[in-house]
Amino acid sequence: MANRNYSRREFVKQNSMALGAAVALGMTPTFMANCATDTGTPAILGGQKLRTKEWPGWPMWNPATDEEQVLKVLRSGVWSRAKVVTEFENKWAETIGAKRCLSVVNGTNALIAALVQLGIGGGDEVLVSTYTFIASPAAILQTGAIPVFVDTDPETFQMDPAKIEAKITSRTRAILPVHICGLPADMIKIMAIAKKHNLLVVEDACQAWLAEIDHKKVGTFGNAGCFSFQNSKNIPMGEGGAIVSDDEAFMDRCYSYHNYGNPYGTMVGEVGSGTLIPGTKLRLTEYQAAIGLAQLKRLEEQTSKRFDNAEYLKSQIKKIPGILPYKFNQKVTRASFHLFPFRYKKEEFKGLTRAGFIKALQAEGIPASSGYTPLNKMAFLENVLKTKNYQLMYPPEMLDYKKYMENNQCPLNDQLCDEAVWFGQNMLLSEKSDMDDIATAIERIYKNAEKIKNL
Ligand SMILES: Cc1ncc(COP(=O)(O)O)c(C=O)c1O
Repeated sequence: MANRNYSRREFVKQNSMALGAAVALGMTPTFMANCATDTGTPAILGGQKLRTKEWPGWPMWNPATDEEQVLKVLRSGVWSRAKVVTEFENKWAETIGAKRCLSVVNGTNALIAALVQLGIGGGDEVLVSTYTFIASPAAILQTGAIPVFVDTDPETFQMDPAKIEAKITSRTRAILPVHICGLPADMIKIMAIAKKHNLLVVEDACQAWLAEIDHKKVGTFGNAGCFSFQNSKNIPMGEGGAIVSDDEAFMDRCYSYHNYGNPYGTMVGEVGSGTLIPGTKLRLTEYQAAIGLAQLKRLEEQTSKRFDNAEYLKSQIKKIPGILPYKFNQKVTRASFHLFPFRYKKEEFKGLTRAGFIKALQAEGIPASSGYTPLNKMAFLENVLKTKNYQLMYPPEMLDYKKYMENNQCPLNDQLCDEAVWFGQNMLLSEKSDMDDIATAIERIYKNAEKIKNL
């Protein structure tokens, strides 16, 4: 399908007369152009599989350029937090445009540390995105606060800023927007609301390395930004996370917390003047940091490639009826595309279910997934309200699960969870012709939806 654009143009040129007749029959030119590009039988109906070519593997590792520093660390025997971890932190702070960075064991604990060191705890409410991974509300619960779910804008997949103010109460202390899929949440509106109501903001940028709003990196808008370096992420280290901020005093507290509460500046293993604050141990290892430094070398180039391919793929598939790709919030200058999200409207595909659509895509050699299920309806919320700590921290009316749920309905998010389809970030590291394969596979399923549905 390398000549997909060409054939589409050619089709329109060669069939301009037929086009008039088609329009008269109520078929739009876009619909006609889509129909023109592919006549293949879907693999799920016994046709030839569109793709046998592999997608780029993940994580990437280049022994020639990546192993020297990792081997140096391994052979040194200095494996616990030391110079290489500091080097990674300095590099990430500089890359993001933040004054400071602290690495920790994972993104979940980056969120917990940031919330705790901003003073969030029992008795507080934190407004959180609903279309996200479990780690975002789980981090809030670890502080003793209660997550309050803000409905999602289905077009952007992000927290809908227009739904925030109705959820603010006298207990609300912070907003935790998530830049889900690597697409920036609307930080311009969110920061204005936070300012107006004197709320703290912790950005969950665990999927959004180098994403930007007006050329400013996400993670640097709020009081703190948190990142993940887990194996599937665009900076894979196995496990790992980081907090960034310009607030030096806060970052010192985070450092202390991640090292048992010991005064910041003590060497590993030294007790110094004694433990100052309640803390835990979240230190990254030297070999993880060495892996991270190797990954950082290709991040810029990979981010550009993902962005270009995502925008190209979007331009191709948005023409297909029933396929509604992501839209950007205002002033987004870059997204990191940990995932490529779109909505699938089965009504346009003759009622073919999303599961059936994904199965048909996979049969063509196009891996896809259905994404998140509604977090606000999961059992952990009812169960946390029954725990000893929550029973001690909150008045009975706040522990009434039915009442809690009345305030945490997110109907647009429910619908989004039924309609979303994702492609993984590794697929966006391929070539434009590979994006064409994805578009062709969707068109093929679209044109044969009735037959696939009746399988
Ligand atoms: C949106 C979001 N928040 C938080 C996390 C937690 O990161 P980690 O897996 O490193 O704990 C993840 C990663 O899975 C994530 O996708």
